Amino acid sequence: MNDSRPLIEMKNIDLIFGTFQALKDVSVSFDNGELVGLVGDNGAGKTTLIRILCGMHAPTNGEVYFDGQKINRFNPRLAIDLGIETIQQAVGLCNNLSIARNFYLGREPVKRRWGLPFLDFEKMRKKSEHVIREFGLRENVSPDDEVEILSGGERQSIKIGHAVEFKNRVIIMDEPTNHLSVREREHVNRLAVQLKEQGLLVIYITHAINQVHGISDRIVILENGEKITDIKSSDCTAEELINIIRHGGRVGLAENRG
Ligand SMILES: Nc1ncnc2c1ncn2[C@@H]1O[C@H](COP(=O)(O)OP(=O)(O)OP(=O)(O)O)[C@@H](O)[C@H]1O
Ligand SMILES: [Mg+2]
Repeated sequence: MNDSRPLIEMKNIDLIFGTFQALKDVSVSFDNGELVGLVGDNGAGKTTLIRILCGMHAPTNGEVYFDGQKINRFNPRLAIDLGIETIQQAVGLCNNLSIARNFYLGREPVKRRWGLPFLDFEKMRKKSEHVIREFGLRENVSPDDEVEILSGGERQSIKIGHAVEFKNRVIIMDEPTNHLSVREREHVNRLAVQLKEQGLLVIYITHAINQVHGISDRIVILENGEKITDIKSSDCTAEELINIIRHGGRVGLAENRG
């Protein structure tokens, strides 16, 4: 792989729903091992943009490249094929199944006995226990417990553990800390950093600059479907970025600095 090439490149993306233009000429790239905060107010287009990456929407205009390959078909298999996992608060887990079953959801290991296929519970339990401990579940939680007993932050750990185990390359966290306590938010943020340090691309969507400024390498701000800022986090303060959002991109960083 050519290292100078971004992992994901979105070029001049328009997305039109009926008469409403949700994305306007958005160009943005993302690299391996990067933690990018995708920030903007309600309705800015954050979720819509990442849904294109997951194959849930096809762009009306524009091109998307993954690892240098142009994506021609946008369908729900795309995310699986490309190794993209999206994590949303409390979505995507089955409450009445065990942690181990949830961990392998959709990819259950099978072993054969007398020529017949059986779910390999032993493997599910062992493997999920190992990965779950690594991602910080309480000591007294067992892989056989139902997901229902877990806190919001612990549920995130299961999804994240799953993503790492199945060698995903991109983790998209869409408002991952909504409804979480301060302690759990910190836990989720540590996981995001841990994933990036393992070389994954982490796209972290939030309304709140402060939530992601301190942990991200770069901040991309969307406003009314347009990209208004794309800057290294170390080149600006959270306050400067908040000011940009407040003024809908009409103030630049230089003006902020006076
Ligand atoms: N399937 C759809 N059909 C029509 N309009 C849509 C559709 N999906 C999203 N939109 C519109 O596109 C705009 C962007 O929505 P999007 O969900 O991407 O915003 P967001 O930045 O994720 O906001 P939030 O922070 O509230 O999640 C909104 O005005 C929304 O109503
Ligand atoms: Mg959204």
